[in-house]
Amino acid sequence: MELIDRPRRLRRTDTVRRLCRETRLSTDSLIYPIFIDETLSGVRPIASLAGQNHYGLDSVARAAEECLAHGVTHGILFGLPAGKDGCGSSAWAEHGVVQEAVRAIKASFPDFYVITDVCMCEYTDHGHCGILHGQEVDNDETLAYLSKIAVSHAAAGADMVAPSDMMDGHVAALRRALDGAGFQNIPIMGYSAKYASAFYGPFREAAGSAPAFGDRRGYQMDPHNRKEALRECALDAAEGADILMVKPALSYLDVIRECADAFDLPLCAYSVSGEYAMIKSAAAAGLVDERRIMCETALSIFRAGANMLITYYAKELADAIRQGEIG
Ligand code: PBG
Repeated sequence: MELIDRPRRLRRTDTVRRLCRETRLSTDSLIYPIFIDETLSGVRPIASLAGQNHYGLDSVARAAEECLAHGVTHGILFGLPAGKDGCGSSAWAEHGVVQEAVRAIKASFPDFYVITDVCMCEYTDHGHCGILHGQEVDNDETLAYLSKIAVSHAAAGADMVAPSDMMDGHVAALRRALDGAGFQNIPIMGYSAKYASAFYGPFREAAGSAPAFGDRRGYQMDPHNRKEALRECALDAAEGADILMVKPALSYLDVIRECADAFDLPLCAYSVSGEYAMIKSAAAAGLVDERRIMCETALSIFRAGANMLITYYAKELADAIRQGEIG
């Protein structure tokens, strides 16, 4: 009888594999993006995002209902307003598209958790994320507008606000405004490390928010940088953010890992439109197994340290978790 002369690895039977998993996914940690078009009645497929829809205000509750049917209990709302102007006034209108969408969802599904994206690019006629002075976004003037938007979302019944504008001081400004309006318990999820990314392409088409001139590199982060992400997260944390975010996810897994290790706040990752569209089109071309690629990419993001994930695949991932394809 031969003696064991080398360490031996665990036999990987199905049960052992499940027992020893280092990363576990839960439907509780998934957030689904919902697009609402104020001019639409019914539901219309989004051309740039196969499998995703624009919802009219008359049917947005259906979006929440579909999520709940898959076990997904969190959504993040993006609005396409009927009108735009220089200062994005439809963004904070009492009966604006997002405000009405929140009310419609809450009226039918009060337990569906509603996060709202707080930004101006979908509402300004120039498509930038703030108030312009000449060709430049005026950081500090923009803060006052963002604050009004966040308060109007909370007043409509939003559960959490997520500023995606990348202005300096935005979390502190929103915290002050929300507290002042009696919304001390509304958490803020900062889009803390948001890179100036080509992966947002399909979203800008879906949300009608491409800038009319220039780009967002003045306020979004340079993909060359890693330490800057830590600094951005530190600022949002110091200003009172409840959750930090890294966006996009797949090309920034190193940043997710570092931010997860460096901060004691929950970390969200946003798997953005381009990441989804790449998988969709590769799968449509018959090049990859969509379901397995979807699972593997989501897993990589959680393995990197994310605690929650905004993803266009939220419903399919929830199915995969329930059916044991992913753990
Ligand atoms: C708004 C905003 C963007 C995304 C989320 N919020 C677009 C941008 O910054 O250009 C992108 C989301 C995606 O690509 O899925 N500022």
